[in-house]
Amino acid sequence: MTHYGQPAPLEARKCQSLTGRVRVGGDKSISHRSLILGALAVGETRISGLLEGEDVLNTAKAMRAVGARVERMDEKGGIVWSVRGVGTGGFATPAAPLDFGNSGTGCRLVMGAVAGCPITATFDGDSSLRSRPMRRILDPLELMGARVVSQSDGGRLPLTLAGARDPLPIVYRTPVASAQIKSAVLLAGLSAPGVTTVIENEASRDHTELMLKHFGATIVSVPDGAHGRKISLTGQPELHGSDVTVPADPSSAAFPIVAALITPGSDIILTDVMTNPLRTGLFTTLREMGASIEESETRSDAGEPMAQLRVRASKLRGVEVPAERAPSMIDEYLVLAVAAAFAEGTTVMRGLHELRVKESDRLQATAAMLRVNGVKVEISGDDLIVEGCGHVPGGGLVATHMDHRIAMSALVMGCASDAPVKVDDTAFIATSFPDFIPMMRRLGADFA
Ligand code: S3P
Repeated sequence: MTHYGQPAPLEARKCQSLTGRVRVGGDKSISHRSLILGALAVGETRISGLLEGEDVLNTAKAMRAVGARVERMDEKGGIVWSVRGVGTGGFATPAAPLDFGNSGTGCRLVMGAVAGCPITATFDGDSSLRSRPMRRILDPLELMGARVVSQSDGGRLPLTLAGARDPLPIVYRTPVASAQIKSAVLLAGLSAPGVTTVIENEASRDHTELMLKHFGATIVSVPDGAHGRKISLTGQPELHGSDVTVPADPSSAAFPIVAALITPGSDIILTDVMTNPLRTGLFTTLREMGASIEESETRSDAGEPMAQLRVRASKLRGVEVPAERAPSMIDEYLVLAVAAAFAEGTTVMRGLHELRVKESDRLQATAAMLRVNGVKVEISGDDLIVEGCGHVPGGGLVATHMDHRIAMSALVMGCASDAPVKVDDTAFIATSFPDFIPMMRRLGADFA
């Protein structure tokens, strides 16, 4: 099991303006995928800008455990991760359980990849990951021929999965908008003959599709219904090792962005931020609230767009966020709720049922984080309603529940609240944004 050591509490105090130019770490979703596809490809994959957070490092270990050669190299131009893969269907049986620590994405994507290989592997994680539902992944993988050898409590970790010797291509409609379910099915479908199809009612992030194409697979994505997509992958491609440059993670950028918006006089620049439209619901929402976020130097690499963002402190107003926007900002509601608390007026965020099954129950945790700091907030069904009044009293101690994004959101809130905001444990920030605390301090945050 991953060991995170003693809890590390921290307090954020009201600071002067935030200023400066930063690049947040590599995108977590793309980092996991580059290691997994690299391990399934033939030849060398060279990854620059890989996020070296706990979650991604656990995926790297898992890829080594199934036979890929994964090396971190300190080269003239910076750090490069080299992956020499084993080819689709070529994973070896790991000698020990695969430990994914806190990461649902690493665990679920690797389940998909393992399901398409004739091997047996045990999946495990920390107590947060052990409490999260895996049935949503196992259901389609069983249809493809994988077998659950043992499982805990209705499809939870630890569980042992036997991959299919001859995986079947399926047509699968995902029951919830989830890139993790979609990706697991597509990764298993790599070893199936014929075409594996995933249909989603609401389009989720498409990094797996874009990267599969980059590695040489034939994959077609077409609109389906008002907000959905139908994705068809031709099985048994020869994936060839490729170069991947990981752009900066918009879900990490979200924290300094909101901190700058709510802290008077702030003016910051974030470079190379990925702007894939299936990830930028937060930016759309913040702009509707009156945020000054300017994009420049737009470009794209392997189908992933990116831009430089200039963010200036802004007067925000409450808005209504429609349910269909949720997949494009699913990890950002915590920090959006912080922005909403500093806005004038009511913000209603609709359709947040998926927040209940993240690293913690984020719907409850967000409400608790705001309430303990004097903000009026209500949960109504799957909606979160925040009453903004232009400032936040603060003074509360926030429980992080092993959830990195709760810790970072609370610290962002403390940058501009009247009294300091304290979090009980910052250790889990290392899962996704190890540089968060020093980077925020460089921008001017007062964390003590
Ligand atoms: C992710 C998908 C999302 C997101 C997670 C990363 C991915 O989960 O919450 O942080 O990389 O595929 P779901 O697809 O389950 O919504």
